[in-house]
Amino acid sequence: MKKNIAVIKGDGIGPEIVNEALKVLHVIEKKYNHTFQLTEVLAGGAAIDATGNCLPQESIDQLLASDSVLLGAVGGPKYDSQPPENRPEKALLRIRSTLGLFANMRPAKLYPQLREASPLKDELVDEGIDFVVVRELTGGIYFGKHETWTENGQETAQDIMKYSTAEIRRIAKVAFDTAMVRRKHVTCVDKANVLDTSKLWRRTVREMAKDYPEVTLDFMYVDNAAMQICRKPSQFDVILTENMFGDILSDEASMITGTIGTIPSSSLGETSRGMYEPIHGSAPDIAGQDIADPLGTILSVGMMLKYSFGLEQEAEDIDRAVNAVLNAGYRTPDMMSEGMKKVSCHQMGDLVATEIENNCKEM
Ligand code: NAD
Ligand code: IPM
Ligand code: MN
Repeated sequence: MKKNIAVIKGDGIGPEIVNEALKVLHVIEKKYNHTFQLTEVLAGGAAIDATGNCLPQESIDQLLASDSVLLGAVGGPKYDSQPPENRPEKALLRIRSTLGLFANMRPAKLYPQLREASPLKDELVDEGIDFVVVRELTGGIYFGKHETWTENGQETAQDIMKYSTAEIRRIAKVAFDTAMVRRKHVTCVDKANVLDTSKLWRRTVREMAKDYPEVTLDFMYVDNAAMQICRKPSQFDVILTENMFGDILSDEASMITGTIGTIPSSSLGETSRGMYEPIHGSAPDIAGQDIADPLGTILSVGMMLKYSFGLEQEAEDIDRAVNAVLNAGYRTPDMMSEGMKKVSCHQMGDLVATEIENNCKEM
């Protein structure tokens, strides 16, 4: 198989973790005789440094010409003084919107090997943590009108949260379809006791549920959901929610599985071209130290192989290799617990890549 992959290394730990993910991608490429043509694309802080623009037209053209996109993370304190329209984060939002990537899947699954890294009590961990946050990614308050003005001598600002039925329907369909191949349970998370957008979500999702009689649908307010994720995570299968709630809840969900560093994500739209990225950010506090956890990015490559290219076996290899490395007790500092073997970012990448190569020899 021949594919063009656009690679945005990004800022902070971005280049470190993406290099490890590419190491793994190269091993898969060799093992299965694929050709992955990589194009390094500038976006975010790195693009500002090089061109002054957080997302130059050339980058957009390169992304549109690709079969899929791998991203590390963008942003950092260096860019805090940029005008809102030129912040690195804006580049990310523009990419999601331009590529039509409205469906963001963020799994929260506990690797049994990482139970010691989870802050939850053993009893809760034993009940199982295996759910997915289906986050709407191209609408809501992120994409509504943002404005700041002066009113009665006071600086005043507002951000508009807006959703249409069509936007809700297409993401709800993804959630229901996902539930059908899981445990057939959708929890729609909203703030319908306050927000009109949430009331529209409820009406629309309830209507759509008629097409999925096997799926159990319930609704939960977002404040309660934030609490329930810690109180009893085993109650969740598919969490369906709007853009900002999904951003917040997925960071919380990641932590109960041990660390945000290992959680991958896929963002897809109507075509097979997706963007794949870990859910964490550029972690400026640990950038340049070779201690970041690259597993979220490595597992994002697995998601790309599976969901954009249909390469199930290859994706399984990555999962198996990550499991084997965790079984052997190797941990980056973020997931370290007593008795485990601490490794650096690049050592973790080497371990996963070597594990895949070794499997290869056995075949
Ligand atoms: P962050 O996710 O970058 O970091 C939060 C904490 O988690 C930090 O202590 C960090 O060291 C730790 N962490 C994150 N990823 C890790 C990894 N792989 N291994 C080990 N530890 C890890 O969130 P933040 O500090 O709020 O944001 C930093 C910058 O990243 C901001 O500019 C923000 O806008 C941006 N950001 C970008 C993305 C993205 O590109 N998709 C996502 C989130 C935040
Ligand atoms: C994420 C990030 C982004 C978001 C930021 C950087 C715009 O937090 O991918 O989770 O809020 O979507
Ligand atoms: Mn986030």
